[in-house]
Amino acid sequence: MSVLPIITWPDVRLQTECAAVEAIGPEIEQLVGDMFETMYTAPGRGLAASQVGVMRRLFVMDATWKEGDMNPLVCINPSIVPLSDARSTNEEACLSIVGVSADVSRPNEIELSYTGLNGKRVTAVIEGFAAVCAQHEMDHLDGRVIFDHLGAPERAALEAKYKEII
Ligand code: NI
Repeated sequence: MSVLPIITWPDVRLQTECAAVEAIGPEIEQLVGDMFETMYTAPGRGLAASQVGVMRRLFVMDATWKEGDMNPLVCINPSIVPLSDARSTNEEACLSIVGVSADVSRPNEIELSYTGLNGKRVTAVIEGFAAVCAQHEMDHLDGRVIFDHLGAPERAALEAKYKEII
């Protein structure tokens, strides 16, 4: 396994929708291993394939490892259905937008469906920080980032701040 370079905003690949993973084989297995190594090294709680330049619908996450509880999750061709009208706002950071964070509002509870590395389709109801993390990574697969959740003035201010940092 190796640590891959993480591409950063405003790279156009972070603004581009990813295509489905068509077959799970050695290449995808290797990519997943490298993505976990990259995510844990960064260190982060989630990483989408597009963030390492692979334009496929795949992300890895581990919402709890920083608290000492490892829960690695591989989501291939994921889909998300919001289950609650209730939303919460969390300060979200992104490994591709280093140095700034944004307050992002999302549904509290979601149904997450995905194919695992074993090829089996799984559906799970998740909430809390794991739901935030999954929705953030899902956004990447659709070419969306934290900036896209902000109103125009807030976005302009945060992008300006980011440009000063990079
Ligand atoms: Ni991100």
